[in-house]
Amino acid sequence: MAEPPINIADIRMDYMLAALDEAHAGDNPLVFFTQWFKEAEAAQITEINAMTLATADAAGRPHARIVLLKGLDERGFVFFTNYDSAKGSDIAANPQVSLLFFWKELERQVRIEGVIEKVPASDSDIYFQSRPAASRIGAWASPQSTQIPHRNILDLNYARYEQEFSGIDIPRPPHWGGYIVIPQRIEFWQGRSSRMHDRLLFVLNGAGGWDRSRLAP
Ligand SMILES: Cc1cc2nc3c(=O)[nH]c(=O)nc-3n(C[C@H](O)[C@H](O)[C@H](O)COP(=O)(O)O)c2cc1C
Repeated sequence: MAEPPINIADIRMDYMLAALDEAHAGDNPLVFFTQWFKEAEAAQITEINAMTLATADAAGRPHARIVLLKGLDERGFVFFTNYDSAKGSDIAANPQVSLLFFWKELERQVRIEGVIEKVPASDSDIYFQSRPAASRIGAWASPQSTQIPHRNILDLNYARYEQEFSGIDIPRPPHWGGYIVIPQRIEFWQGRSSRMHDRLLFVLNGAGGWDRSRLAP
């Protein structure tokens, strides 16, 4: 194998930016997540809503990919996708998923684990209609995760749907919509010097509240 241009083993960072303490994190991880999200926005980080979604298929094999957070409320984290995609099949087989945010400019990571369900069709309709026309046509044109013989198929599909929906409202494809991840565990990680990082874990308890603990880095 070709030598990499740099020695990968020598790449390391010492994290010095901030600390994370219990008083700062409070009792509600969704409120605290919103605070960190706003801080990421204020830091002008691009694509702060990009998150890794990990699912597992029926055989227990894990699969991870990036999706974009498009909504956040007291229930959980919303993203949109193709329900017939590989991730859609995984979710149908196993509704336990994990989300991961890494805001490297703030030396922060957030790990979320929970159960996933489809959002109501009306919510998917509202978001779908807010998308640019090209994205709406794209949702019809791409059979996400399936094998296609060549790139040209996409262009042909796109042109076909563009013509089909010319002059009319582009409807939401039945196979396209939102999911909400309802968290059961949320861990906030703040990088610290000498690998002595801060980790605060919130776990949903039987009473519907959150138990907070500190983990060793
Ligand atoms: C920055 C970024 C944002 C993405 N956002 C989404 C998204 O919101 N929804 C989506 O279905 N795929 C999104 N993708 C593509 C997915 O990573 C993935 O390729 C696609 O969903 C197919 O995944 P699957 O075959 O595991 O279902 C995004 C990729 C990147 C790199």
